[in-house]
Amino acid sequence: KQNFTTIEDLTETDVLSIIHRAQAFKNGETVELRRPVYAINMFFENSTRTHTSFEMAERRLGLQVLSFEAQTSSIKKGESLYDTVKTVQSIGADIAVIRHPQANYYDQLIQPDNSNIAILNGGDGAGQHPSQCLLDVMTIFEEFGHFDGLKVGIVGDLEHSRVARSNMMLLTKLGAKVAFSGPDAWYTKDFEAYGPHMSMDELVQEVDVMMLLRVQHERLTNESNESFSKEAYHEKYGLTMARAEKLQNHAIIMHPAPVNRDVEIASDLVECPQSRIFQQMSNGVYTRMAMLETVLAARHLLAPRATATIT
Ligand code: CP
Repeated sequence: KQNFTTIEDLTETDVLSIIHRAQAFKNGETVELRRPVYAINMFFENSTRTHTSFEMAERRLGLQVLSFEAQTSSIKKGESLYDTVKTVQSIGADIAVIRHPQANYYDQLIQPDNSNIAILNGGDGAGQHPSQCLLDVMTIFEEFGHFDGLKVGIVGDLEHSRVARSNMMLLTKLGAKVAFSGPDAWYTKDFEAYGPHMSMDELVQEVDVMMLLRVQHERLTNESNESFSKEAYHEKYGLTMARAEKLQNHAIIMHPAPVNRDVEIASDLVECPQSRIFQQMSNGVYTRMAMLETVLAARHLLAPRATATIT
């Protein structure tokens, strides 16, 4: 893969290969580069996990990391995304990790002959979040060793969630069964084809994986935010302490974070034994190393010894 923008074109073999490489990195594997490689992380929406873990992944692979701050960049003078990315490529960056509010922003950046700087998508509007999705499937695989027939409940702000879209597509492709819960209005048409909508009380008893989503207040209208009640949401759609009692013993709790404590999930459950929330974050570094390695290999930037290990 010369660029890594979506999970839609990944086969089951691709996904398993990324998980295995991520596990190898977790066990201390390193790579060698053919020459100095420069990465730049361009985040036009806020981020803690994706930004810092991509940077950690780049540094662990031996890449040089250029600094970039959207707030102080010439984007603020009106420079377009296209010209900004072209500029950093001209300066010598090899890889750009980009998060941008516009869905499919990367379409304009990728040239048919891949002469563009390598693009890794750190999240595009309500489109895709490939690195989050892959760290999620790695975490599920570590737990269960397979995907076939696993029931995954995805709950909450579906409409605005690129995590939900990426996960429902990839998990279904891998053989898992997906079901949804949360406010009816957020269960939009694109979700219907992937799984049913159920009450939280029904869903909680059936799932192997309970995947909660953050309520994305920054994407809600002022009117919706004004009428939003944290307590009412938690009672109706949240993983409360009482509902957590009904989870199967082997079920795990996931959340891409940041977490609205006591809204999507009771605060005391965030670090409970069934929670894998912080394991997801750790796995994010290794998954992103594996994604970067895929792009480095496709662009012949890995030394032969390392390239030979990739399936
Ligand atoms: N899960 C996730 O994408 O977190 P950040 O927004 O902090 O990167």
